[in-house]
Amino acid sequence: MADDDRRALLDDLRQLIELDRGLGVEFLARPAAGAAPLPARPAPVAAAPAETPRPATALVSYATLPPARPTSPSPPSSALAPMTQPPPPVSAPTGMAASDIAAIAAEVAQCRACGLCATRTNTVPGEGNPATELVFVGEGPGADEDAQGRPFVGRAGELLTAMIVAMGFPREQVFICNVVKCRPPGNRLPAPDEIAACQGFLHRQLLAIRPKVICTLGNTPLRALMGDDKLGITKLRGQRLDWRGIPLIPTFHPAYLLRNPPAKKPCWEDLKVVLGVLGRTPPPRKAE
Ligand code: URA
Repeated sequence: MADDDRRALLDDLRQLIELDRGLGVEFLARPAAGAAPLPARPAPVAAAPAETPRPATALVSYATLPPARPTSPSPPSSALAPMTQPPPPVSAPTGMAASDIAAIAAEVAQCRACGLCATRTNTVPGEGNPATELVFVGEGPGADEDAQGRPFVGRAGELLTAMIVAMGFPREQVFICNVVKCRPPGNRLPAPDEIAACQGFLHRQLLAIRPKVICTLGNTPLRALMGDDKLGITKLRGQRLDWRGIPLIPTFHPAYLLRNPPAKKPCWEDLKVVLGVLGRTPPPRKAE
């Protein structure tokens, strides 16, 4: 294995261990007594800015959509039923939602409604359990997702999977999708016309699934779904908003967490709000 690959692998492993500690949960085995410690993190080549600057794009006008409004707060955790039963088994895609989701994916595969179709390798409609109670919505596919046609399969995806597992779900049991279904080249934000062109797909997915909670990751899905480009994740994270009668809880994007590991702690608080709305508690911590 090349040095760079080994370093990237160790870095990913470290991120997961930091998530493990930062989130106050344990889903990674502790190293055996006497095991060699991980080598020290190599010095970064260049200091990363707090927020990687990206080309600014005004967001689509959402004049027809209702304004964001917090709804009633989540019930206190003491009122929540502990998760006495394991989550239901992952069901094979059956029923209306599954066929709707498959039909939407087939339409996405043919879509040429915006310029992103010219540069995509694969469309990335989303994946997971159409009968789920929990949907995560990200921004748009990156290079790894474009190559594989699957959402959140790169480094940010590894972290999202770890977050989902920390909440007590196998990844396959939730549904994961994005605001735009094709990769914006060069890791830029989706442009307003691209968001507008894809909006129908996202809305139809959410209405077909009708989850108990939508968890948005970062600013883009928060603004796109709430119809207000002035909303910000810093103020609204962890709040219970409403999208067409479905509770919507925003949290940080995993890519932001990779750049800002201390934000994992507040993110875990947000994910506990999500669990609260689902009537679940986090899986018990393993003994030290
Ligand atoms: N970031 C996103 O917002 N979505 C993906 O699918 C991958 C990375």
